[in-house]
Amino acid sequence: MTPAATTRTPILCLAGFMGSGKSTVGARLAKQLGWRFVDLDERIEAAAGITIPQFFERHGEPTFRQLEADELRAALGRVVEHQEPTVLALGGGTYAQAGAPEFLRNAAVPVIWLDARIEVLLSRCMTMTGRPLFRDEASFRALYEQRLVSYQLADFRVDSSGDAAAVVAEILRRGIAGVPAADLESYLEMEKPPS
Ligand code: S3P
Repeated sequence: MTPAATTRTPILCLAGFMGSGKSTVGARLAKQLGWRFVDLDERIEAAAGITIPQFFERHGEPTFRQLEADELRAALGRVVEHQEPTVLALGGGTYAQAGAPEFLRNAAVPVIWLDARIEVLLSRCMTMTGRPLFRDEASFRALYEQRLVSYQLADFRVDSSGDAAAVVAEILRRGIAGVPAADLESYLEMEKPPS
């Protein structure tokens, strides 16, 4: 059974470590599918009225995790309420929190783990600011190792070491979004640059 067939409103969650491309791939995938894109980190910032680094500094990680769990519930609630097919990009730690995989499984929400080599994740995060949990290489690697066991609970694993277009094409090719094979060509067609 395709994921879309197991839920009333089609939804896909993207999980994965910092730098795995959840937001970039998610936005692109949603655009191609004609679905709504929701970025959980953005929802959290909008709810808090401050940036995530500011939130960590002012309130600490445990309070952040509570807000994150609340916003995850709210985001899923909106999907059900508005019946809008949605791609939801989680934060890097969302799926690694106790109970999160079970919560999403019970809600019949398919989860894709975007996984990339640690060197790729590192190089992507080193050049970007705004990640309070990116402190140094050693702790980054340790956190990744620690979270692997959670990410492995996802329904699908897609290698996201390459560029976003290739990752989206792979998700569509494997039918993970529930796109019937007959429609695939037109989805991929949209990806081609104008000649
Ligand atoms: C976090 C990752 C961040 C953001 C917050 C905590 C984590 O999201 O939710 O800084 O625990 O790994 P990205 O993976 O989108 O950077």
